[in-house]
Amino acid sequence: MLRRLSPIQPESFEFTPANLEWARAQMTKYPEGRQQSAVIPVLWRAQEQEGWLSRPAIEYVGNLLGMAYIRVLEVATFYFMFQLQPVGSVMHVQICGTTTCMICGAEELMRVCKEKIAPHAHELSADGRFSWEEVECLGACTNAPMAQIGKDFYEDLTAEKLSALIDRFAAGEVPVPGPQNGRFSSEALGGPTALAGLQGEEQYNGSVARAVRLGETIKRIDGTEEPITTPWLKGKGGDAGATTATKDGMNG
Ligand code: FES
Repeated sequence: MLRRLSPIQPESFEFTPANLEWARAQMTKYPEGRQQSAVIPVLWRAQEQEGWLSRPAIEYVGNLLGMAYIRVLEVATFYFMFQLQPVGSVMHVQICGTTTCMICGAEELMRVCKEKIAPHAHELSADGRFSWEEVECLGACTNAPMAQIGKDFYEDLTAEKLSALIDRFAAGEVPVPGPQNGRFSSEALGGPTALAGLQGEEQYNGSVARAVRLGETIKRIDGTEEPITTPWLKGKGGDAGATTATKDGMNG
């Protein structure tokens, strides 16, 4: 797919003081002279701040990291996770359209997006609050069909369920992510056939618990860095069995 910058661009871009501090901290992770290795997380933070990557944002990141604009542009245009067009101010819906989701109903989900958001992917809704696109496999095939909304996965969807989710986002709610059919995680539909003792006491699986704890899923930039614990494992195999998650991802 041809990925080009939006014809509509803002005048300028600048990190907030907190994001600039965060970006400078990322740069210290690499040896002197190798600060450009931080390009992906710094671009990602710029996208989190604005919702998408404008040309001024790409230039700003290049200046910050001592990289030529074209080098940063190459990265921004290569990875589909970077949005090069403005996205909805409330939410951007990414529908997985790869094999498993497609045979489980992804086309029906896209029909909902066309009807409720905009007729074409990457178009803003009439009020500018919503947008959508089709993406490749997001790695949640067991819970197909699914969509990523903001940072979170909404899984085991149907057209009716996605439609209801969009309505709730439009009303200002942030629905609980994860499986939308009552599944705890990615266990068999008839219930877990292994490790059954690890489930049943907690309301949410670890990813969903983390999302719920952080409280919002659209632009989750709250500075939270302290590890949190996936509670359903705690005490089930000793402390060593506890799994922690940080703001940047899961740590085994
Ligand atoms: S095919 Fe949709 S998440 Fe993998």
